[in-house]
Amino acid sequence: MAFRLFFVLFFPVLGAAAAAAEAEALQSYIVQLHPHGAVSNGEQAISASKQHWHLSFVEKSVKREGEKLEPSSRLLYSYHTVFDGFAARLTDEEAAALRELPGVASVRADRRVELHTTYSYKFLGLNSCPTGAWARSGYGAGVIVGVLDTGVWPENPSFDDHGMPPVPARWQGVCQGGEHFNATNCNRKLIGARFYSKGHRANYPTNPSDAVSLAEYVSPRDAHGHGTHTASTAAGAAVPGAGVLGVGAGEARGVAPAAHVAAYKVCWFNGCYSSDILAGMDDAVRDGVDVLSLSLGGFPIPLFEDSIAIGSFRATARGVSVVCAAGNNGPSPSSVANEAPWVITVGAATLDRRFPAYVRLGNGKILYGESMYPGKVDLKNGGKQLELVYATSGTREQMYCIKGSLSPAIIAGKMVVCDRGITGRADKGEAVKEAGGAGMILANSEINQQEDSIDVHVLPSTLIGYKEAIELKNYIASTRLPMARIVFGGTRIGSARAPAVALFSARGPSMTNPSVLKPDVIAPGVNIIAAWPGNLGPSGLDGDDRRSNFTVLSGTSMACPHVSGIVALIRSAHPSWSPAMVRSAIMTTADVTDRQGKPIMDGGGDGGEADAFAMGAGHVNPARAVDPGLVYDIDPADYVTHLCTLGYTHMEIFKITHAAVNCTAVTERNAGFSLNYPSMSVAFKKNATSAVIHRTVTNVGTPARSTYAVHVAPPHGVKVRVSPTTMVFSEFGEKKSFTVTVNAASPSPAPRDNADGYLVWKQSGGQGKRTVRSPIAVTWVVE
Ligand SMILES: *[C@@H]1O[C@H](CO)[C@@H](O)[C@H](O)[C@H]1NC(C)=O
Ligand SMILES: *[C@@H]1O[C@H](CO)[C@@H](O)[C@H](O)[C@H]1NC(C)=O
Ligand SMILES: *[C@@H]1O[C@H](CO)[C@@H](O)[C@H](O)[C@H]1NC(C)=O
Ligand SMILES: *[C@@H]1O[C@H](CO)[C@@H](O)[C@H](O)[C@H]1NC(C)=O
Repeated sequence: MAFRLFFVLFFPVLGAAAAAAEAEALQSYIVQLHPHGAVSNGEQAISASKQHWHLSFVEKSVKREGEKLEPSSRLLYSYHTVFDGFAARLTDEEAAALRELPGVASVRADRRVELHTTYSYKFLGLNSCPTGAWARSGYGAGVIVGVLDTGVWPENPSFDDHGMPPVPARWQGVCQGGEHFNATNCNRKLIGARFYSKGHRANYPTNPSDAVSLAEYVSPRDAHGHGTHTASTAAGAAVPGAGVLGVGAGEARGVAPAAHVAAYKVCWFNGCYSSDILAGMDDAVRDGVDVLSLSLGGFPIPLFEDSIAIGSFRATARGVSVVCAAGNNGPSPSSVANEAPWVITVGAATLDRRFPAYVRLGNGKILYGESMYPGKVDLKNGGKQLELVYATSGTREQMYCIKGSLSPAIIAGKMVVCDRGITGRADKGEAVKEAGGAGMILANSEINQQEDSIDVHVLPSTLIGYKEAIELKNYIASTRLPMARIVFGGTRIGSARAPAVALFSARGPSMTNPSVLKPDVIAPGVNIIAAWPGNLGPSGLDGDDRRSNFTVLSGTSMACPHVSGIVALIRSAHPSWSPAMVRSAIMTTADVTDRQGKPIMDGGGDGGEADAFAMGAGHVNPARAVDPGLVYDIDPADYVTHLCTLGYTHMEIFKITHAAVNCTAVTERNAGFSLNYPSMSVAFKKNATSAVIHRTVTNVGTPARSTYAVHVAPPHGVKVRVSPTTMVFSEFGEKKSFTVTVNAASPSPAPRDNADGYLVWKQSGGQGKRTVRSPIAVTWVVE
């Protein structure tokens, strides 16, 4: 049905050859303007007058002979809350002409970015006992979380509004109707929903042969699943008996189950366009969200070219907390995206929940694997013994089980070994099943890779680690008739070394700005069970006709909404806190040890202990975050000073802040300035060996009377001195400053030899046990 609607809308356009040729020449641009002088009364009037003003620019730039032009047909969006400007379809020439017009600050091409719990809330210490974060924060009541994603499936029980408080009176949002979606789909839980498809459609004006990419709803309804999953992770209602086809069954509940959700659909099957994202942010901030959750992003690019960074600057200045996924390009260094110092950047960690699915080989050997498939552990008799096949001397496509490469004559009725990579994990299962295979063993083919990120495959299967994969392949090579069975073991909790940093979680140091440590924190992002649309099977594959209200997904996309939910809890407990205070509370209370009390391990790289470039301040601990004792606050104007210290030009800064700045004056006024960030990152330039960091903390603990003493663990090869070493507070809201002097013994012996340590302010004298920890990262910048 979705397909037919698109077809009707777009076929006439494609039918006209001339129109198609024109469409090819047009590109989407995001145009930033210098602030408009017009004073207006009320948002409506501003909106109408700005759109008119924006159109005048399109009119001026579009001058083609003999063409009957409707400038409004070229205007995609008119922005006026987080951005001054518009998005339009223009030719290269027109864009160049526009750049020269007075009043135009920048013209840049639209950019595409990608989409990067029944149990996780217990793991986070979110329980109902009086000291738990939920009890202390009212479960996030009164807070509105805006989720920019693929939309929402409103009928999922996670969005049931039973027992929800009324919609906050300040809410200005709407429940936008469209295909299979109308106002009755919103309620007290899902209080708003909108969709933004103009940027996406401009780039994918529907290719009728590409039916799959069109099978989505032209409305806020989620045909993809990602947005439903992330929204329910942040603020889904409690749903008892939630599991995936009987596995992992327990109560599903978002991190802030009393918070309201507003869905902004900005991502479609071919990704998410900046022009759509910016439109969603613009509306969300005006609608009145308190938290913006963005489980999407691209590669690291300069902040002044990054629409998410630009949009979130003004959102933050207006008091909205912006939470972003760090990206899944780990474990390579400097892979972290969404690095703006005003957002919360979230990496992914494992949970201590496992779904064992052992491989029992014909020779009796048992290999550990994981799968989401119902079953009882019966290592002797469980599972069906099948002949094993692996394309040892086959093509690369066959080894990776790429669709169409597998021969039914060889694999029918057998257990097929597939190397992980190139195509999606679930796609491999589908390929094996289609070619008649009866089972699949997915083998991690990268050194040290563990059995993380499982899927709900369409046939019996398991995922094994790198070492197990070698053992399995050796066995296959050693015998004429290799056999194996998969023994499913249901759900196991509490056994593993968790949390650990996920292999795929993107790492620092930040490429665009090494003087701020990113990611900020890690949160659960591996094998997260959350809500799923009713039109999709739990594997997400088109041909999967099983149905489940929940499925399992992994990624920093899943970690991000956990933190968005924690932000909601803190804002509910402390409504007057700034976004920087909320972030500080989350960072300084994060855990750096796992459930066994040992250092958090890194699932990637050499598999050793995780450093600050992998986990930032550590793994979120919401119970502690609602009562941090001290916070590092940041005035939005300080971000401007920070951008000046980075050496950005005034024009580059204007592109972010929409305000003129004289950096010479700013830096003169703020000599020795350090951004009051809760973590500390020193980027030594060539030959530099010393740096002084200034910090100010605000006392938010009760009782107010308290004394904190500092403890320091310096990074390797560096001396750290903190002054003063003790701070005595007598009043709530009192501020105290200190300095941190970092001295390297010598310029870095090896470039990019980064190091990390920490300082922690510990409450002393029996007044409490609060600890306020900041990682200290040192990088040597190669210029
Ligand atoms: C809205 O959707 C509901 C359920 O999908 C349907 O029953 C109702 O008729 C729709 N209302 C309108 C005005 O279209
Ligand atoms: C999903 O939830 C709805 C509402 O609670 C329920 O009616 C439906 O049976 C569930 N679907 C599945 C597949 O469990
Ligand atoms: C910027 O500030 C400096 C120092 O305060 C001053 O000398 C200079 O004229 C200013 N530049 C502009 C363009 O206002
Ligand atoms: C760094 O130090 C080395 C050795 O002392 C010197 O040769 C070089 O010129 C210095 N470079 C800079 C940029 O100061």
